[in-house]
Amino acid sequence: MRNRRAAFAAIAGTASVALTMSACGGQSSTGSSKGGTIGIAMPTQASERWITDGKSVVKDLQANGYKTKLVYGENDPATQVSQIENLITQGVSALIIAAIDNKSLNKVLQQAADANIPVISYDRLILGTKNVTYYASFDNEQVGRLQARFIIDKLGLEHGKGPFNIELFAGSSDDNNTKYFFSGALHLLQPFLDSRQLVVRSGETALNQVTTLRWDGATAQKRMNNILATSYRTKTVDAVLSPYDGISIGVLAALRSNDYGSLSKPLPVITGQDAELASVKSIIAGQQAQTVYKDSRLLADVAANMVDDVLNKRKPQLNDTRTYDNGAKVVPAYLLQPISVDKTNYDSVLVAGGYYTDAELK
Ligand code: GAL
Repeated sequence: MRNRRAAFAAIAGTASVALTMSACGGQSSTGSSKGGTIGIAMPTQASERWITDGKSVVKDLQANGYKTKLVYGENDPATQVSQIENLITQGVSALIIAAIDNKSLNKVLQQAADANIPVISYDRLILGTKNVTYYASFDNEQVGRLQARFIIDKLGLEHGKGPFNIELFAGSSDDNNTKYFFSGALHLLQPFLDSRQLVVRSGETALNQVTTLRWDGATAQKRMNNILATSYRTKTVDAVLSPYDGISIGVLAALRSNDYGSLSKPLPVITGQDAELASVKSIIAGQQAQTVYKDSRLLADVAANMVDDVLNKRKPQLNDTRTYDNGAKVVPAYLLQPISVDKTNYDSVLVAGGYYTDAELK
């Protein structure tokens, strides 16, 4: 298969030498191999962001002359493994994978390697296998730092204010991003926890106490309800570190059912991630306070260019070749920069940037 593809790439490469500069400014590539089918395995359609990612990746690859097969594993690791097996059997030229469980793909990726199929790890790093060619993501530590920075500024911690009560939420334990988001945030919050300007009344501060399996909003809602019932009978919570909009929405539901959201009991400062529509609307309505925007159109572009480059035997543009050690190798990566979005800048970032229209946010 490799030889056939390489031969095709050589012919196609000489026939069409189009210079394409991608939207992420700086990613560039010349001459695409037209043809071949790329398999794209995404985690779930339950979250809007992965639907947008899937569409963007398909669009970019098709614009580069590839066919695409897009599948969603609906948050079930075994389903994702068998979907990838099917894509390999169908003879895809390359795979783009956003893993559900980052450790469950070793066997299937060995099958991909045996068939000479390159693999792009999309957004989430796949662990424990050398059979990952490149990693396309955002600066995941920076995501956590932006969430923490927002809380620090909103509460005036650097001006000595406090003590405030905060509760911490993290993402799914089987997602490699979780630890980066959490450590990025904790790195900035720790001095204020040490000085007791921030107090975690539940006492749950270790990563393994605060994870949320599969990033599930209902799971987060349940945990927040328990925390409110046990640790906040006579106190109020002032901030919630949430790593993802779906979790923020769950936390908000728990807070509202405990009478938060009134003048006498205002909602805490709640962060988020992904700029999902429901959360941006919530920010505009003064409920969720912040989100971290990661333009999935740019991520899709990076991943599609990586595929095109690798199939044409070019080295893609990379900007991090040391951070993302997956246990079997350091996976060369291209990391994009996330942006903090709140009430003050959603218009200039999300609307002016063409991510949402005004009408969608109404
Ligand atoms: C992470 C991703 C976040 C968020 C979360 C839940 O891996 O980096 O942006 O989407 O999954 O889907």
